[in-house]
Amino acid sequence: MKFFIDTANLEHIKEAQDLGILDGVTTNPSLMAKEGITGKENIMSHYKAICEIVDGDVSAEVIATDLEGMIREGEELAALHEQIVIKLPMIKDGVKACTYFSNKGVKTNVTLVFSPGQAILAAKAGATYVSPFLGRLDDISSDGMGLLSEIRLIYDNYGFNTQILAASIRHTMHVIDCARIGADVMTGPLHSILGLLKHPLTDIGLEKFLADHNKGN
Ligand code: E4P
Repeated sequence: MKFFIDTANLEHIKEAQDLGILDGVTTNPSLMAKEGITGKENIMSHYKAICEIVDGDVSAEVIATDLEGMIREGEELAALHEQIVIKLPMIKDGVKACTYFSNKGVKTNVTLVFSPGQAILAAKAGATYVSPFLGRLDDISSDGMGLLSEIRLIYDNYGFNTQILAASIRHTMHVIDCARIGADVMTGPLHSILGLLKHPLTDIGLEKFLADHNKGN
């Protein structure tokens, strides 16, 4: 399973990259705003800065909701850096834009996916990634992991090439459940990745090893 970090925070991206396990980055307009990145020029240069830190795919989301606007913005974003993946919303024009970019060999990530039917449409449109939002479903007492399992089953039935990018990850158990179900990629905040490191027996064991070593020295 590939690990993407879900943030526009450059320090968090650097920290995950330094760990040596980072495969890419996802952003969205809310994550950009959270870092205080506003205005087209600043947003574009922030995407470039992210691409310079990581080696893998960096999802950059269009703001337009009409086909023409999505194509215009998508082309501008794709021209920024070869690592950019165009993030498109799961609406009618988003599906059309996904088909347009897929036919041109430009990578896409279809976002705001909450049902198996939407995931089928994304795959039919040739999306590189489909992003089911697991945490937001859990937030409304729905079953995020259940959706992930259904998409995995459907994609495997037909050998769709679209990679399932499990999004809206909230914590480490989400990451582990994604790996159990077979998500191709998970994208989560830094704490959901660093949380995987933790086990009290590791800390206790290390403390004892060091104490025993020091007895003989
Ligand atoms: C990433 O592609 C999504 O935009 C993101 O995971 C959404 O996460 P949230 O539900 O925590 O806002």
